[in-house]
Amino acid sequence: MMAQHIQNQQIPKETILRVREQLYACRQNMRAHVHSFGCQLNVADGERIRGMLELMGYTFTDTYEDADLILFNTCAVRESAEDRVYGILGNVKQYKKKNPSLVIVLCGCMASEDHTVEFVRTHYPFVDIVFGTAALSQFPELLLEHFQGKKFAWDTGEYDSMYDAIVPSREHPFKASVPIMFGCNNFCTYCIVPYVRGRERSRLPEQIIGEVRQLVQDGYKEIMLLGQNVNSYGKDLETPITFAQLLRQIDAIPGEFVVRFMSSHPKDATPKLLDVLLDGKKIGHHLHLPVQSGSDNILRAMNRRYTVEQYLEIVSYLRQRNPDFSLTTDLIVGFPNESTEDFEATLKLIQQVQYDNIYTFIYSKRRGTKAAEMEDVTSDDEKRQRMEQLLSLQRRIAEEHNQRFIGRVLRVLVDGTSKREGYLMGKDNAFIIVEFPGDESLIGQFVHVRITGARNWAVDGILVD
Ligand code: SAM
Ligand code: SF4
Ligand code: F3S
Repeated sequence: MMAQHIQNQQIPKETILRVREQLYACRQNMRAHVHSFGCQLNVADGERIRGMLELMGYTFTDTYEDADLILFNTCAVRESAEDRVYGILGNVKQYKKKNPSLVIVLCGCMASEDHTVEFVRTHYPFVDIVFGTAALSQFPELLLEHFQGKKFAWDTGEYDSMYDAIVPSREHPFKASVPIMFGCNNFCTYCIVPYVRGRERSRLPEQIIGEVRQLVQDGYKEIMLLGQNVNSYGKDLETPITFAQLLRQIDAIPGEFVVRFMSSHPKDATPKLLDVLLDGKKIGHHLHLPVQSGSDNILRAMNRRYTVEQYLEIVSYLRQRNPDFSLTTDLIVGFPNESTEDFEATLKLIQQVQYDNIYTFIYSKRRGTKAAEMEDVTSDDEKRQRMEQLLSLQRRIAEEHNQRFIGRVLRVLVDGTSKREGYLMGKDNAFIIVEFPGDESLIGQFVHVRITGARNWAVDGILVD
């Protein structure tokens, strides 16, 4: 059984020290190349893996050539994500031939599927270590076993109660993500995540709040709270707390920062939560609310547990109180048996909602899920056409929708330089991309920008302070 909640246990410090000694005995200055695929939760796990590697004495490199250890933190959400990893694994084999002491590690969601571990073992025998998403804290132990001569060290067990004890090595200088819960209980019929990430486990609120407080003190300006379904946060804790209550406490932390979060499930978007989003001072006026389809038939077959009408009620609640409230979504095209009428209902929905952005995916059959047993009648060509139709409609909607900002002044967190020479890019409170001329010294700061033009993916402006 997974731990009921995530406790503050000790990181395996002794093991880490033993690996460190082992490494120093062989060679100084060991370099690791860490690549995380998939969602932001996986990237956050990758930062914790980097944290452990740092403690073990590794530094980091961007290239395979310079690496003594290559680690792939993988994603299994679509077939294309898995194929990409297999392609890359095929490519790194040559580096192992040149440098037999190179350590190759595979972890993350793919490494939590038994059939994948078996496949890797037989087809990519040069992979040294494999561990699943709930065995993150076992990595130092596995590395030690490898250095002690174990041919294939692997662990897909469940230990992630240690998560809080692992200090991440953060890659971004002013944006930080904070996982608040792990796993998913929803079992949408197309989705592999509940199988590779286990059931919902929430971190304790005091640990989350402590981490956010520290990040703000350290100068981080954007805090992204992460979970597969953040608005079911806290239900599994001994002293239950809602996501709305957690957000209110984070909103009250002193300092200059913006809070974002993802993802939210429409079935758990309570009016109390929506009120916190509308009233919060530091919470972005943006909600990523994956709808997946605009057809009730398909939503039912997907086991999403809401109707289009219920979804639209959430949208109108938000937009009545704040007509500018920004909404983004995920959509799947070509779910088994999606008819032309079902697809047209999705087109209608995106027109009704007026999303600021949509993330569209062609349905991908995932072994072990319920939908994998359903007959898939739509051709690949038809699916691609539907996807293109959705995207071109969205481009038109976004360009028109973005006009609402012209003449207004937006508060923007400057992310970095734009491709246009002399221009900067950032995001406003509602996650709208803003491009404007400015000096690089402003990166990482909040500035005010008067909006002068609108495109389908961004708005343009000039600095006003
Ligand atoms: N937990 C989030 C939610 O419920 O909205 C989403 C998590 S999932 C990692 C991100 C997105 O991938 C989903 O919203 C869905 O649109 C897409 N996705 C998941 N499984 C898929 C599949 N088998 N084929 C295509 N897209 C898929
Ligand atoms: Fe997957 Fe559904 Fe869970 Fe999101 S809510 S992770 S789509 S099963
Ligand atoms: Fe992929 Fe795992 Fe995230 S399957 S999308 S990396 S939870």
